[in-house]
Amino acid sequence: MLLHIPNVLDAATLTRCTALLKQADWTNGRATAGTQAARVKNNLQLPEASPVALQLRAIVLEALSKNAPFFSAALPRRIYPPLFNRYGGEANAFGNHVDNAIRTHPASAQHVRTDLSFTLFLNNPADYGGGELVIEDGMGGRAVKLPAGDLILYPSYSVHRVEPVTRGARLACFSWLESMVREPQQRTLLHELDTSIVALRGEQGESETAVRLTSCYHNLMRMWATV
Ligand code: NI
Repeated sequence: MLLHIPNVLDAATLTRCTALLKQADWTNGRATAGTQAARVKNNLQLPEASPVALQLRAIVLEALSKNAPFFSAALPRRIYPPLFNRYGGEANAFGNHVDNAIRTHPASAQHVRTDLSFTLFLNNPADYGGGELVIEDGMGGRAVKLPAGDLILYPSYSVHRVEPVTRGARLACFSWLESMVREPQQRTLLHELDTSIVALRGEQGESETAVRLTSCYHNLMRMWATV
């Protein structure tokens, strides 16, 4: 499932992020890449433990924790502490790769199985040329370039790349998460069911049918979720 979640960060929060990013001390992005990915990765990142990264990370995690569509689609069990990158100038692209199946956080030594990847765009498409995130789908790839504050959630098993940035700079936050529901089909079904129940309540208010469908949702979660 590919899911676009708009307005994860509001305008005021984006302004705070932009101010923090201006103080950023960027380093080579290969530090967090696996062997295959490192060969094709050419961008800049914030060091994971840098003060600016810590502040930005807290902002993003707080926003994600309040975002109902993100929770419904991802059912996150563990989120790898989000990272921040910059594409532009000489360090402007990331060729086709897959994300490592397991990420181990250097500070906590906690393992995260990467079921879903996300990119949260931190500046606007007009600020840079190129820089599309292209997710291979067997049809030549889906190119994604979203407004600042919007997030794309996509399966970590997909081959993907970031096209060269030809003008300006592309700033983004990215990370991976382990879902409470490992199987993509089960997760997709739960998301579809949850979205439909919310829509049904919106159309008809509370009803016996909505209660029964909610019961189905939670009973499927009981069968499929690991916490
Ligand atoms: Ni990747």
